[in-house]
Amino acid sequence: MNTGTTVAAAGTSTQRLGPQHREQLLQHLLSLDAEDRGRRFMLSASDGYVQRYATGIDFDRGIVMGAFVGGQLCGVAHAALDGDGADAHFEVGLSVARSDRRRGVGRKLLRECVARGLQDAPRRVVVRYQPGNAAMGATARSLDSAPQLDAGEMRAEFGPGAPQRPPTVDAPPDPHATGR
Ligand SMILES: CC(C)(COP(=O)(O)OP(=O)(O)OC[C@H]1O[C@@H](n2cnc3c(N)ncnc32)[C@H](O)[C@@H]1OP(=O)(O)O)[C@@H](O)C(=O)NCCC(=O)NCCS
Repeated sequence: MNTGTTVAAAGTSTQRLGPQHREQLLQHLLSLDAEDRGRRFMLSASDGYVQRYATGIDFDRGIVMGAFVGGQLCGVAHAALDGDGADAHFEVGLSVARSDRRRGVGRKLLRECVARGLQDAPRRVVVRYQPGNAAMGATARSLDSAPQLDAGEMRAEFGPGAPQRPPTVDAPPDPHATGR
């Protein structure tokens, strides 16, 4: 798995969240602007919607990872159980405060959420996002996922049989190779 060149910012720690973090989690989500809420929830999320979402999080059945900087919650990955039978999976929603982006926080949260999700049945973790969301696409690919277009949305999947990014080729191509 690619560890990337960015290291999660010094002083940033991650941990699994529980009901005692619900209020901080709510404040983090409410601090997202309209554009980010659209990307995070795939719809235009009002304050009331965000409040109901935060109130409804089941910390026992789902996996909720948080990143803290200076004691302040600056990012959250929430993996919730979704689908039935063969379609059962954890679906992850990910967000990082604008001031803490591009420092490896999103990748770290997603990596830890995926690792925990793959330990529990149904051992499949999915992130859905809008096709134009370059940041989420890059974050998924940085963990070796190969996101696919699926019914108008991008779908990055992790787990046995999930599409994976081809390994990086270090050697330069052989100019005499025919490619056959
Ligand atoms: C998507 C999001 C969580 C990424 O968080 P982040 O902490 O900035 O991501 P990281 O710093 O860990 O970056 C991970 C990779 O993505 C790349 N990346 C991050 N933002 C990028 C951007 N805007 N454009 C292009 N690449 C970007 C980084 O360079 C890194 O790639 P690398 O390993 O090749 O260097 C953040 O942008 C966000 O909260 N967006 C709004 C909510 C959202 O879109 N959620 C996704 C749907 S659930």
